[in-house]
Amino acid sequence: MGLSSTGRRVLVSGASRGLGRAVARAFAANGDRVAVHFGSRAEEARATFDSLAGGGHALTGGDLADPAGAAAVVDAAAGALGGIDVLVNNAAVNVRHPLPDTPYEEWVAVWQQHVAVNLLATANLSHLAARRMIDGGGGGRIVNVGSRGAFRGEPDHPAYGATKAAVHALGQSLAVSLAPYGIGVVSVAPGFFATERVSARLDGPEGAVIRAQSPFDRVATPEEVAAAVLWLASPAAEWASGTILDLNGASYLRS
Ligand SMILES: NC(=O)c1ccc[n+]([C@@H]2O[C@H](COP(=O)([O-])OP(=O)(O)OC[C@H]3O[C@@H](n4cnc5c(N)ncnc54)[C@H](OP(=O)(O)O)[C@@H]3O)[C@@H](O)[C@H]2O)c1
Repeated sequence: MGLSSTGRRVLVSGASRGLGRAVARAFAANGDRVAVHFGSRAEEARATFDSLAGGGHALTGGDLADPAGAAAVVDAAAGALGGIDVLVNNAAVNVRHPLPDTPYEEWVAVWQQHVAVNLLATANLSHLAARRMIDGGGGGRIVNVGSRGAFRGEPDHPAYGATKAAVHALGQSLAVSLAPYGIGVVSVAPGFFATERVSARLDGPEGAVIRAQSPFDRVATPEEVAAAVLWLASPAAEWASGTILDLNGASYLRS
């Protein structure tokens, strides 16, 4: 039996707020059951959980920077939902650390944090979820949240840009190795979208400049990105496996 288009068991990492919350809501509204994962924001994650349409959802916290924490999260999600059909690797950190202003010790620590959360946790959750999908025999989907920054550089957040580029490359590798099991793997590469994390920048003097990056003169909504994630996780999107989908309002075009 292949992947169905509704009633799927979906783990969304980092769903306490922002894009993860929008993705969790999109799947729930589609009739899927969602495990809402959070790191430190238990209260916000509960608000996400309480806002979901339908029933049978789950709430699970855990530090993804710790490989054992990632394993516990997948165990809890799969236990509560009865398995995992879709993994959305959304959790990430993004700390400012421009090289000229960042002391070496801080530079090392920030890089280690970005690699641990953005890259290694994505790899570890992918392994843990894909193992279950393979054993379940019903196929599945992994959708990674990458970034436009992987292509155009992130001068103030270099570890962020580098780890997001690595996430895209990881997705391409896994798309090939997991296709024989009916598992599609894709990444989205969004430009700016309006979440709590970036609201101060969007509301401040920098906001107009950021909006002007797109000829639409705005940033995206999390719901616009979530709609793409939902489609990429659908049975209809199997042939998109291996892709990196640009979602940046023509603010950056790559060839
Ligand atoms: N906003 C943008 O403009 C933009 C643009 C391109 C790509 N993105 C990407 O989109 C995704 C969501 O961004 P967002 O703006 O919604 O960010 P956000 O609000 O900061 O959400 C990040 C999520 O990741 C979780 N997380 C971080 N470190 C963790 C850890 N060690 N263990 C477990 N969970 C951890 C957080 O959990 P807690 O809050 O519970 O600790 C939170 O739920 C990220 O992958 C980001 O890189 C964002």
